[in-house]
Amino acid sequence: MQVSATQGNILEYDADLVIVNLFEEVTTPGGATGAVDAALDGHISAAIGAGDFAGKLNETLYLYTNGALPARRVLLVGLGKQEEFTVERVRQVAGKAARTARDLGAKRVASIVHGGGIGGLAPSAAACAAAEGTVLGLYRYQRYLSSPDEKEIETVTFVEADAAKAETVAGGVSDGVALAEAQNFVRDLATTPGSDLPPAALADAASAMAQEFGLKCTILGPDEIAAENMNVILGVSRGSDQPCRFIVLEYTPEEATDQTIVLAGKGITFDTGGLNLKPGDSMRHMESDMAGGAGVMGALRLVGHFKPGVRVIGLVPASENMPGSNAFKPGDVLRAANGKTIEIDNTDAEGRLVLADALSYAQRYEPSAIIDMATLTGAVIIALGQHAAGLMTNHAGLAAKVTAAGEATGERVWELPLWPEYEEQVKSPIADVKNTGGRAAGSITGAALLKKFVDDRPWVHLDIAGVDYTDLDRPYLPKGSSGFGARLLYEVVRAWGSGLDTD
Ligand code: BES
Ligand code: MN
Ligand code: ZN
Repeated sequence: MQVSATQGNILEYDADLVIVNLFEEVTTPGGATGAVDAALDGHISAAIGAGDFAGKLNETLYLYTNGALPARRVLLVGLGKQEEFTVERVRQVAGKAARTARDLGAKRVASIVHGGGIGGLAPSAAACAAAEGTVLGLYRYQRYLSSPDEKEIETVTFVEADAAKAETVAGGVSDGVALAEAQNFVRDLATTPGSDLPPAALADAASAMAQEFGLKCTILGPDEIAAENMNVILGVSRGSDQPCRFIVLEYTPEEATDQTIVLAGKGITFDTGGLNLKPGDSMRHMESDMAGGAGVMGALRLVGHFKPGVRVIGLVPASENMPGSNAFKPGDVLRAANGKTIEIDNTDAEGRLVLADALSYAQRYEPSAIIDMATLTGAVIIALGQHAAGLMTNHAGLAAKVTAAGEATGERVWELPLWPEYEEQVKSPIADVKNTGGRAAGSITGAALLKKFVDDRPWVHLDIAGVDYTDLDRPYLPKGSSGFGARLLYEVVRAWGSGLDTD
């Protein structure tokens, strides 16, 4: 599928289907929608008058043009109330409209840029969000289907009437496509069955991506991981026949900078729980337990594409968590790369373990900030559901940047406290820290362990176990892997500027 922008009059555009929009409570459409209404002899106004279309958010109605336009059909999509309009709603509306157009069998689609006119959004932001919503909403994973759905849109063209805005719109559309394609790359990885994406395959995907986007990529295998003293990753992988990998992606801008951001993502390619084996239902989607790692890879892909002015490092500890006969055991003590020891209370709390080594490894970059992202705890699903990632931090300024990026991208985060009191729960009688903290505040005690490995550098932990997979069918997030986090993390990088105020 090709998504692009052009300057012209949508009334004259030759397509199978033309998408226009309407705010709620508008009875006489204006702008492009008004022009289409006039060309159709007032059919849109008639539909509104008959109560068949109210402009509610994501509402759709299609009409036939009977030769009045080159396009056969017009698809009308509701924008909701004008005073509630946001860039996030543009993503939704674009996703909904594109999916409806595909269901109708349209191959060549033309659309106006939602929100660019009376919506009052900046044309570049509206165009970017419209392209994102389109490419994200149309995502499907059909790799294993012998007969994939043949209904496929071939082109989506955003038609901007105003010549003065056309170039800005085209730039926004092309950015939006890049952002959404990175997110779809994350979804592909997170959806791939566990046996088809062991650690070595995840590493191969990282090096292929790095090659394509001009990043440096280093893959450490078990011996090199051992040489770095990352014994905790080795411990987690011991129960598996699949060797672990440690993925390092590096981007250095052309102009000198003293700012380095490290992004670290959990790369458990399948989580059985290990000897603390998960029950069947809980294990069912553990092929996506590398979604944090894939999200970091997606963010680095965007870094490679957009080439920001700060240095960015991506780290992905990749391992299976299996209950093989050589598996690590409850009661074992493992020593992380920074020398700290961890008592294994439960082999199913493995994400924090592989990240402990990755965060220790991160210190060599003397990072200005570290952000880790992981499907770490079931508890975060209970706390926040599918609508926000849990954020835990040791630095309010960094948390504010990540929160702002969440609002900008629609990938929202919500802070949970990480007070010192919680650290009591992960104290161990025989090691420096214990890998579980009981049922209470399960997401926070996960973060309390990670905090011991960041050396007091500005750090944010994102627990994405609730948002990485959705069973809700949302306009641009169909059921399945959401690909959460690539756009969010890249937005933090993009908006970084001269760095954090030290506090
Ligand atoms: N990968 C799971 C967390 C998870 C649960 C992700 C549900 C997505 C959906 C993680 O490794 C895990 O098993 N966490 C345990 C921690 C516990 C043993 C302290 C959990 O949440 O139960
Ligand atoms: Mn687990
Ligand atoms: Zn896990």
